[in-house]
Amino acid sequence: MVAPALLIKTDASARQAWTITASGRGLQGRLQIPGDKSISHRSLMLGALASGETRIKGLLLGEDPRRTAACFRAMGAEISDLEAEWVTVKGLGVGQLQEPVDVLDAGNSGTTLRLMLGLLASHPERFFTVTGDASLRSRPMARVIKPLTAMGAQIWGRNNNRLAPLAIQGQILSPIHYHSPIASAQVKSCILLAGLSIDGDTIVTEPSISRDHSERMLRAFGAHLTVDHGARRVTLHGPSQLQGQTVIVPGDISSAAYWMVAAAIVPDSDLVIENVGVNPTRTGILDALQQMNADITLENSREVTGEPVADIRVRTSQLQACTIGGNLIPRLIDEVPILAVAALFAEGTTRIEDAAELRVKESDRIAVTASQLNHLGASVSELPDGLEIQGGATLTGTDVDSFTDHRIAMSLAIAALRASGATTIHQAEAAAVSYPPFAQTLEQFAL
Ligand code: S3P
Repeated sequence: MVAPALLIKTDASARQAWTITASGRGLQGRLQIPGDKSISHRSLMLGALASGETRIKGLLLGEDPRRTAACFRAMGAEISDLEAEWVTVKGLGVGQLQEPVDVLDAGNSGTTLRLMLGLLASHPERFFTVTGDASLRSRPMARVIKPLTAMGAQIWGRNNNRLAPLAIQGQILSPIHYHSPIASAQVKSCILLAGLSIDGDTIVTEPSISRDHSERMLRAFGAHLTVDHGARRVTLHGPSQLQGQTVIVPGDISSAAYWMVAAAIVPDSDLVIENVGVNPTRTGILDALQQMNADITLENSREVTGEPVADIRVRTSQLQACTIGGNLIPRLIDEVPILAVAALFAEGTTRIEDAAELRVKESDRIAVTASQLNHLGASVSELPDGLEIQGGATLTGTDVDSFTDHRIAMSLAIAALRASGATTIHQAEAAAVSYPPFAQTLEQFAL
């Protein structure tokens, strides 16, 4: 009997192992991807804070935005059925979130927890407790607690106020000009959201520009914002009311990246990924792959509810190694694991530097990317702040693990398309955090 190209085994605790046997066939045709995770979170949050109704189309139905919806429902926002084509949010108004009767659980989602923290801290006379899964409870929260505390917030947590679970006693906060030591949209957005109920200017300056979905959407909802790109500085002129809007969520470029790399490295591919968000603060993956000689073109470029969108066509090509670092890193931070997979099949040695942030993502992505690709026969070394990847790899299928990290699970699945024999990815259910139908699409287009 011929082994199926994709075998999914689910155990009693809903853990999945995916066994992938490459078919060798190129990826062809037109493919749709789920909604952008960052924009999905923000549409639910701003919808909950706005007066009137927000209508959202294309919301990502991943585990992470589901957590955001559950948290804001627990604080009084009326959010309709998430499965519907249009999701509606009846907001409460800025500063009007209600004290929840139970712990808010952000699950695996750093964006839910960090952005929400700015809102909770700025709701006087209300008390909140927040937590997350084992991964999130080990991720650094001091990066948001520190500036919020400087604004007058009262937050307590484990490990000397550095780790969740956290307890928050809401306060009237004061304006701040925060010079963030890291380029993090979660830090920036947390402070700006706190600024909505502050009388005065809340200012964040970053070392390099991180994704700007919050700035775009806050403006669209009626907040007064000044952005100085050259100075990498955003000013929110508070206090600010928000008005419900229509948001059409584009496809997530971070999810498109798996298929871009698959089409680049699997021979005879010619794939169009439709309706992808191409906000310039997110398109570092396009720049890096083009630098590697990938055959990528953007078609049908347009703007949809304030975000640039395009269809992305990728054809197979012989990739070349590259060295990336600096300002490019925040623009492709979530794509480094899949970029490492691309680099395995390039000519030469690729270096990825200035990416120490990867060590505090859903897993230590530097260590896990290196160790799991090396299990498959690759030669990837860890740098303190990145990876060095030998091109021209020959991979052999074996057992690997996602370490409960969605982006690792999917990157390994794409690597398996160029491995001989069967690759089994354990804890592959993690993919549902950002891309629930990933396995079906893999089967449809690549196996
Ligand atoms: C996100 C910001 C990034 C990114 C994460 C989503 C956001 O995190 O890695 O997946 O939606 O603001 P940092 O801000 O910590 O870099």
